Amino acid sequence: MNEEKRNLSLGGHVGFDSLPDQLVSKSVTQGFSFNILCVGETGIGKSTLMNTLFNTTFETEEASHYENAVRLRPRTYDLQESNVHLKLTIVDAVGFGDQINKDESYRPVVDYIDTQFENYLQEELKIRRSLFNYHDTRIHVCLYFITPTGHSLKSLDLVTMKKLDSKVNIIPIIAKADTISKSELHKFKIKIMSELVSNGVQIYQFPTDDEAVAEINSVMNAHLPFAVVGSTEEVKVGNKLVRARQYPWGVVQVENESHCDFVKLREMLIRVNMEDLREQTHTRHYELYRRCKLEEMGFKDTDPDSQPFSLQETYETKRKEFLGELQKKEEEMRQMFVNKVKETESELKEKERELHEKFEHLKRIHQEEKRKVEEKRRELEEEMNAFNKRKLAVETLQSQSLQATSQQPLKKDKDKKNFFSLPSACSITSGRHVN
Ligand code: GTP
Ligand code: MG
Repeated sequence: MNEEKRNLSLGGHVGFDSLPDQLVSKSVTQGFSFNILCVGETGIGKSTLMNTLFNTTFETEEASHYENAVRLRPRTYDLQESNVHLKLTIVDAVGFGDQINKDESYRPVVDYIDTQFENYLQEELKIRRSLFNYHDTRIHVCLYFITPTGHSLKSLDLVTMKKLDSKVNIIPIIAKADTISKSELHKFKIKIMSELVSNGVQIYQFPTDDEAVAEINSVMNAHLPFAVVGSTEEVKVGNKLVRARQYPWGVVQVENESHCDFVKLREMLIRVNMEDLREQTHTRHYELYRRCKLEEMGFKDTDPDSQPFSLQETYETKRKEFLGELQKKEEEMRQMFVNKVKETESELKEKERELHEKFEHLKRIHQEEKRKVEEKRRELEEEMNAFNKRKLAVETLQSQSLQATSQQPLKKDKDKKNFFSLPSACSITSGRHVN
């Protein structure tokens, strides 16, 4: 394992000293991508600064102050300088700081950064990945535009920068620095840096480990946050045309280092540290995102005994866990189904019993009614028979009396009297009529 490497000297020129040139040539052919996120309140000068930085005019439209929420607007441009192609994406946080409630203002920005990381991770995890020609949209730098109040940072600035500092390289800049006096600017810079430190906000530090740039980078680190002025307007100063902002009392030259830090920003951002920003994004911020995401998914590098754990093993363990869980869920579902069926069955039985009871009750009522009707019918029949009998008796008596009258006319009145004195016959007849 610890086999010592031997240093050998070559007998002649072999040619691997051209490796860096090969790399350069390959990278140049491939082209580069660089993504800048501009966060700052509406109208703070984001678009003007981008135009000034890249010395071109990017298509921009003014944002309104009435956005309901912060919205991220990415725009990609193909730029070329000498034979180097740069795919530049400028992402604007539209509507930042315009809402009455700014509690959630940072969230869309964080989500956007995470989405770009997630897209890259998904590409990496593909079986057939094509990272070679993948358009990398991960944010390499966030230019945080600070309003030149001369006082201190707003809580929105501190909260947003704090939320972003583990996800992106933040370079804070004081925008519209021509609106603040030299002595105020000096104090403002110190105040901002001390507030960032006391709130634990990690801003991007220009790297000092590479000898070639260590000196300039450490000097520039001391100048943070850069106070910048943006302008695409050209003004004649002496016999030269320079980019400047002209006021009734004088001219602010964008590229004059005694007027503002624009040149410092351009040097640091584009000419010296662009590759470091890209590298930091990949090796620090993306790595952190990837690690957290894979851990969240249950992947680990070591098992509980701190032994190395391969991806294959993790996958197998996860698969087993998943299958076990699936079986458990299946069993639960089956049990639930059986219980439900049993419940429904007993409910149905109860309903059937109730119906049966109802039926029996109704049957009993019906039989009782029937019995009563029968009884009534029988009584009525008896009454009818009795009446018929009486009627017959009366008719017989009538016919007998008629016969007797015809034979003994003298006895007629007496018989008549007898007939009408029959109270029961009379009342029965009248009673039947009433009924
Ligand atoms: P939105 O995209 O609408 O949020 O605005 P923005 O942040 O892109 O600002 P933009 O670049 O459109 O500039 C807004 C106004 O500020 C314009 O009138 C610019 O001329 C002016 N402006 C830009 N930069 C500076 C600067 O450095 N100093 C001063 N004084 N004004 C500036
Ligand atoms: Mg703009």
